Amino acid sequence: MYYHLIFTVLSLLSLTSCQSLVSLMQSQPDLTTLLTALNAVPRFTANLATLHDITILAPTDAAFAKVPQRSPLGEALAQAALATPEQPAPEAVRAGIRALLAYHVLKGSYPASAAGDTPVFVPSLLDGSFEVGGMAVANVTGGQNVGIKADGGGVEILSGGLGMSRVVQADIMAPNNVIVHKIDTLLQLPVNVTTTGEATGNTAIVDALRQTGLDDTLDTVADLTVFIPNNQAFEAAQSIIAGADVQTLIKVLSYHAVVGDVLFSSELCTGKLKTVEGSKVKVTVTGDGVFVDNAKVVIPDIILSNGVGHVIDG
Ligand SMILES: *[C@@H]1O[C@H](CO)[C@@H](O)[C@H](O)[C@H]1NC(C)=O
Ligand SMILES: *[C@@H]1O[C@H](CO)[C@@H](O)[C@H](O)[C@H]1NC(C)=O
Repeated sequence: MYYHLIFTVLSLLSLTSCQSLVSLMQSQPDLTTLLTALNAVPRFTANLATLHDITILAPTDAAFAKVPQRSPLGEALAQAALATPEQPAPEAVRAGIRALLAYHVLKGSYPASAAGDTPVFVPSLLDGSFEVGGMAVANVTGGQNVGIKADGGGVEILSGGLGMSRVVQADIMAPNNVIVHKIDTLLQLPVNVTTTGEATGNTAIVDALRQTGLDDTLDTVADLTVFIPNNQAFEAAQSIIAGADVQTLIKVLSYHAVVGDVLFSSELCTGKLKTVEGSKVKVTVTGDGVFVDNAKVVIPDIILSNGVGHVIDG
């Protein structure tokens, strides 16, 4: 009798803590699409409800409405909306939605007050165990990163491909030290170096990587920091590059990559970093910016599927 009572109380307790996150979401009129996505991946959602000390970046319905219907994500969301417990969405759709949602969950509780003028990069649940189309979507130890930064009175969230979302409602507290921030735009899943290079218009390095066959390595190796010379930098060095054999080109490109450490701008400090080429590159942090040897970082912190890239001008 007594045991029975205790058991009932315990299961009620776990039920409440499980349900509270979902019921909190249900109580928000502008999170209906997010709920639909969560419903399409019930095991992920059940697990999510057991986690504590996390921060959920919850895209509002308006954020989801910005996703083009004809994009792969738009189509996946449409299929998820049609799913029922009896007729779940196809596994490929669910895999994509799981990866997307995992990137929106940060390990650790970050209230809006934690955001400062310089971005901090914190890990999400998205790790190498999440696969889309049979390929891992992240290869970053500890989980793929998201940047958090104060902006005027608000908070900005930085994601892959220089994606930027704004927090539109901050610090909704759920039990278990779970913090929910509503955001106005979905986070973009970070992609690999070559895809990022093309998408950001830094095509010269992509060509050079392909020419040397280094593209496959840099696209997949875990925990990469890569300095990406922009097209002007390649043009300026054209007289050297044009005459170089592949071996020399490989050395030059490898000198731009550091493996084993994902170094965001907040972690770059004056000193030397060992490159894949073998020798060390000098980093200097000044009031004028961050320099890598004599080149200046012109676009910092492009989050990649396997680390981070900083565009440099030399
Ligand atoms: C890099 O990403 C693109 C686009 O997702 C993909 O097609 C390509 O296979 C990836 N490269 C490697 C080496 O994984
Ligand atoms: C992740 O990185 C490791 C080590 O660099 C590599 O062996 C592995 O193939 C990578 N995984 C993927 C899915 O690219």
